[in-house]
Amino acid sequence: MKKILVINGPNLNLLGEREPGIYGGDNYETLCEKLMDKADELSVKCEVFQSNHEGAMIDKLHSARTEFDGIVLNAGAFTHYSYAVRDAIAAIKIPVIEVHISNVFAREDFRKTSVIAPVCKGSISGLGFGSYFLAMEALVNYCG
Ligand code: DQA
Repeated sequence: MKKILVINGPNLNLLGEREPGIYGGDNYETLCEKLMDKADELSVKCEVFQSNHEGAMIDKLHSARTEFDGIVLNAGAFTHYSYAVRDAIAAIKIPVIEVHISNVFAREDFRKTSVIAPVCKGSISGLGFGSYFLAMEALVNYCG
């Protein structure tokens, strides 16, 4: 059975109360439940991890390389400027799919740059929690 890790970065723990007009009204626990439901539907094992700290996310990316078959990553604002997260993705061999709840291309200019996109297998943005579900499907169906 495939094992997928979902990593959520800074401020995503505040889903539901954080800018609901942009990120929706469902909270982080609901996201986790829906990810587990999707994992059941796809017959994969899934672990969900969230941190507000860049180093903790990098440690998780490193440890995942021998434990998981693929990663769904919402790096939050680190997406736009963290070369350290980018290098961590480049350093591991398992596929990483970048996801965003909001359409980052329809927002502020700084969000239109992703320094992690070039080292990710693919990127999905703007589909709400559906971005995560599609990334999980892609890891199962299109990533070996
Ligand atoms: C986000 C978009 C980022 O620009 C932002 O910093 C986030 C969330 C999204 O899921 O839409 O924290 O990654």
